[in-house]
Amino acid sequence: MTIGIGLLGLGTVGAGVAEILATPEGRHPLVAELELRRVAVRDLQRTRPIQLPSELLSTEPEAVVDDPAVDIVVEVMGGLEPARSLILRAIAAGKPVVTANKAVIARHGEEIAAAAAAAGVYVLLEAAVGGGIPIIEPLKQSLGANRIQRVSGIINGTTNYILSRMAAEGADYAAVLADAQRLGYAEADPAADVQGADAADKIAILTGLAYGGSVPREAIPTEGIDQLDARDVTYADQLGFVVKLLAVSQRIETATDGDPQLLDVRVHPTLLPRSHPLAGVNGVFNAILVEGEPVGQVMFYGPGAGSGPTASAVVADILNIAGGPPGIDPLLAAGSWRQCRLIDGARTTHRNYVRLRTTDQPGVIGRIGTCFGDAGVSIQSIVQFEADSEAAEIVVITHEVLEADFRSALDAIAALPEVQRVAACLRTL
Ligand code: NAP
Ligand code: HSE
Repeated sequence: MTIGIGLLGLGTVGAGVAEILATPEGRHPLVAELELRRVAVRDLQRTRPIQLPSELLSTEPEAVVDDPAVDIVVEVMGGLEPARSLILRAIAAGKPVVTANKAVIARHGEEIAAAAAAAGVYVLLEAAVGGGIPIIEPLKQSLGANRIQRVSGIINGTTNYILSRMAAEGADYAAVLADAQRLGYAEADPAADVQGADAADKIAILTGLAYGGSVPREAIPTEGIDQLDARDVTYADQLGFVVKLLAVSQRIETATDGDPQLLDVRVHPTLLPRSHPLAGVNGVFNAILVEGEPVGQVMFYGPGAGSGPTASAVVADILNIAGGPPGIDPLLAAGSWRQCRLIDGARTTHRNYVRLRTTDQPGVIGRIGTCFGDAGVSIQSIVQFEADSEAAEIVVITHEVLEADFRSALDAIAALPEVQRVAACLRTL
């Protein structure tokens, strides 16, 4: 018996899905049982990488969801609305949903999961994080026995592609971003990629799965690469580090009865020592490091964006639904089972990289050191990189210190008459 697929969107990901469905040879036998029955697009005249019979295409996504010939709804249109309403509409009609839309899941995941549980249908989202990398189902199922301590990763392909090419070729930021868009890695509005919002959406989803309860998406401290100065990439390199946009979700305290889990969840450019397992992840590749007890460290690595890899994850979800037993498998269905809350940023501890522009005169480094010492901030290294008649550039790497202490040291340093400005401040592993 064939299974009818309704596709909401025929862009980068949708076209990749249609391509897999149209070429079942050599794939899992169930792929041949999947039939693309309706496809929603915005513009019927647009030239597309895959030609579909025109009668399949519609500009009315509701009609695709409602079509009785559609058994599984695949949402790959992106954006919050109408995507959220269409997913809920499919659920209300008793139709399982597969989505790649991390923006909608990060913000409305609880509502969608509750509606799906009430209706007894699946909403699967493997493609929403890590493109072609299986990470959602492993976190939900294969690692389910663990107490997860930390999930950290490079989970935005566009920014990793940009950072890798900037570091390797000294390439221009805007030119590399344009390449990423042409290759289908970047979101329609690349601001979400370069400002860190896309990675924050993804770490919000991974947090919910890893710790069994969501955190408010808008409360996740997020910093992208759009303010990153190429000079810090160069200095980091000279000090033995690479700069990556890292998303981190870490358990600070284990929940006791009635007490929510305390988590530290954040996205920011980070200096990684070259020996770190994530430091060698380059280009559009993503990697996610999961640390749990008793498993230890498990790393997931692969292509994090693009048409084919993302479609691979979408079609795997369709196969899970199409080939699964009737009824809901609690491991495949998502759900929260405990409360989580975010730690106050001032109470977190980090290693830091700071670049200061100062006048070049005797005693400046000493005074900077005193400010750090007075605030209880231990310094690992302090180096002067450049000096001209105008200014010197001093880079400090701290040991792991309390954020509140570090900020008070920076305030004192910024007030020194010899310090022109705190030019950069980055986290360091
Ligand atoms: P895209 O290339 O912009 O494609 C979006 C598709 O949806 C287009 O075909 C568009 O129609 C259609 N569409 C949008 N709004 C519509 C509406 N209101 N009614 C009907 N059709 C509508 O986006 P994409 O890169 O494929 O991404 C799709 C989703 O997958 C997003 O949620 C994205 O975050 C996620 N994702 C993308 C990647 C990736 O590498 N690109 C990876 C993982 C996850 P037209 O073609 O007519 O404009
Ligand atoms: N724009 C996203 C990225 C697509 O660059 O990773 C994959 O989610």
